[in-house]
Amino acid sequence: MGRLIVQGQARLVGSIKVSGSKNSALPVFAAALLCDEKVILQNVPDLMDVRTMMEILVSAGYRVDFENGTATVNPATTPNTVIPYELVRKMRASFNVLGPLAAKYGTASVSLPGGCSIGVRPVDYHLEGLQKLGFSIQVERGIVTAHLESKIDHVIISLPFPSVGATEHLMTTAAILDGTHVIIENAAMEPEIEDLADFLNKIGCRVFGAGTRRIEIFGTKRTTGCSHRIIPDRIEAGTYIIAIAATRGDAVVENLNISHLTALFDVLKTSGVIFSQVRQDCVRVTMSESPRPVKIQVTPYPGFPTDLQPQIIAFLSKAQGTSTVIETVFKSRFQHVDELRRFGAKIEVTDGTAIIHGVEKLSGVQVNATDLRAAAALVIAGLMAEGITVINEVDQIFRGYENIVEKLSKLSAVIEYQE
Ligand code: UD1
Repeated sequence: MGRLIVQGQARLVGSIKVSGSKNSALPVFAAALLCDEKVILQNVPDLMDVRTMMEILVSAGYRVDFENGTATVNPATTPNTVIPYELVRKMRASFNVLGPLAAKYGTASVSLPGGCSIGVRPVDYHLEGLQKLGFSIQVERGIVTAHLESKIDHVIISLPFPSVGATEHLMTTAAILDGTHVIIENAAMEPEIEDLADFLNKIGCRVFGAGTRRIEIFGTKRTTGCSHRIIPDRIEAGTYIIAIAATRGDAVVENLNISHLTALFDVLKTSGVIFSQVRQDCVRVTMSESPRPVKIQVTPYPGFPTDLQPQIIAFLSKAQGTSTVIETVFKSRFQHVDELRRFGAKIEVTDGTAIIHGVEKLSGVQVNATDLRAAAALVIAGLMAEGITVINEVDQIFRGYENIVEKLSKLSAVIEYQE
């Protein structure tokens, strides 16, 4: 495990480009398992999680080539539908290959997932949904086997919570259940769901209503190939925007979809950040004062994203007063708070709510990265603090941030990775 050394009291200036979305690329790769012909994916970020997903496709017998952000997926001649534990344990999103493989080949086995340690993350909605779609599910020694038992004409799946992963998993699986009509109610509305639906429709599936709470799928048998460009990563974009604001910087963020970040812009504007739109896909971020305190409720899209919650707490730790962040997606996602306290931040957490009392200064320290987005929050705190910060066990940051050291250096931060 490596560490990042961050020089404090930075002021981020200049410009950077946002990469393709990790959370879009992962389900689109899982959906590429359905394809009977070659698929070309562009704007694919070179990240550990994306590499893991490519390895999963390879282990399923598909051929994957990846160069300069473009991945080519060729269908399997001899498919394998038992995905090894070593691949699945690395990342929760890998579980989403279970349904597509079982729908296409009749049966599949995948281990229960691993992934970021942000509290309990069950897969019950996935399994109940697959059962409603006509699969039998067996769980033995941590391995889940799905077997396509019967053809269902019509089914309504109502999710208890708009889970991103369950929506994507069930939508992709249903897409090739020939003759089955599926409605997913209380579906997640995240932009990544729309991107996945776009991809599915390009390969010949029939998915309607993605981006709303009700998605309708008419299962189809034949799929074709296609070429598809992955949307920009709104969480990566949001992380850099927060970092620029947190360091009272003045910089331009390019290649983002501004409409995907409305909730973040609203919060940051309230706290004093100035945004000027340079182009349709490009925004200038300027901050010249300590943030004004804000109250944030973290909710599913279009609300404030949970994947920016650790970063915004780091930003608010030097606000002019007391801020509140209520987390409703992963209620125990506050492991980063203990680490932020080491910098001198004053934060209390009770029952899914963080109260952040702004302090005058943070001091550089040694900290541990507990999960991917927590690591990003610690980088932001390190840039804000006085002195040097060392972030240990930081490698998981590379699961979600392409070239983060190079990108921050381009914004004139002094940051170094040591193995
Ligand atoms: C995805 C994102 C992740 C983000 C999260 C919420 C990817 C690869 N990951 O994760 O970055 O933080 O959405 O925006 O896209 N739940 C259940 N049972 C289930 C499924 C979910 O109880 O079967 C609960 C979870 O514990 C959580 C909530 O639903 O409290 C939302 O989780 P979900 O939207 O499924 O997150 P992921 O898809 O895992």
